[in-house]
Amino acid sequence: MSAIRIDGKQISQQIRSEIAERVAVLKQKGVTPGLAVILVGEDPASQVYVRNKERACIQAGMASRVIRLPEDTPQESLMALIDEINRDEKMHGLLVQLPLPAHLDEAQVLKAIDPKKDVDGFHAINAGALMNGEKAPVACTPQGCIELLKRSGVELCGANAVVVGRSNIVGKPMAMLLLRENCTVTICHSKTRNLKEFTQKADVLVAAIGRPKFITADMVKPGAAVIDVGINRLADGKLCGDVDYEQVEPIAGWITPVPGGVGPMTIAMLLKNTLEAAERHGR
Ligand code: GUN
Repeated sequence: MSAIRIDGKQISQQIRSEIAERVAVLKQKGVTPGLAVILVGEDPASQVYVRNKERACIQAGMASRVIRLPEDTPQESLMALIDEINRDEKMHGLLVQLPLPAHLDEAQVLKAIDPKKDVDGFHAINAGALMNGEKAPVACTPQGCIELLKRSGVELCGANAVVVGRSNIVGKPMAMLLLRENCTVTICHSKTRNLKEFTQKADVLVAAIGRPKFITADMVKPGAAVIDVGINRLADGKLCGDVDYEQVEPIAGWITPVPGGVGPMTIAMLLKNTLEAAERHGR
């Protein structure tokens, strides 16, 4: 038996066409959803991500404004720009691409974004709302993982879910979303003792570690749904995830590939958050 390969590319296309239809309805009411993206510096991966976000917005019929700033941009200039976009009626979403250059204060930047425009769901108010079960923008990557699981028919209610990784961007919101779906959730991390003992009990295993092929076959419960959030570049230039796909695929029940799994879903959820911010606008 081998796992069902969860096709994030196909599922994200489906979601993006659903979003484009909702955008068209909103445009008929005179509102064009708009997303502003700020990129500071020359990080090559960030440049690719931002270009993909811009393209996806335009394809969905949304307005896109990308502001590229030099590496040495002072904190005050960035804060002033965020303030300007917060007040721009045409931009319903605003995100600052991470990571920022080391001299910039990321926490201060994220706090400055209007929580209603925070389509990344990174603002403390939105992270807190997720914790309290209130409706608010949710971080795109974990939201995308939940969509993949649900649309693939994985039973979440009562399942043992193990998240490996505790970042604010993925691990923590992922755990909250799985809890919301009535999973029994464990968060593991770099200091976890006997990691394998936890992962072997997981019906749903989410790998967000940032280490290539870290999750090996002996760590996976037969039949588990394995969601790979990792995007690592190997010495030969190829991309690979945090899961050893070749090893784990024969054992798992479901598995996401890298590339073509979680990655495309992040953009689809960003479009969804932007659309919903525009739908809420003025209410
Ligand atoms: N860098 C890597 N992933 C993300 C993301 O989802 N949002 C932002 N703003 N930066 C990122």
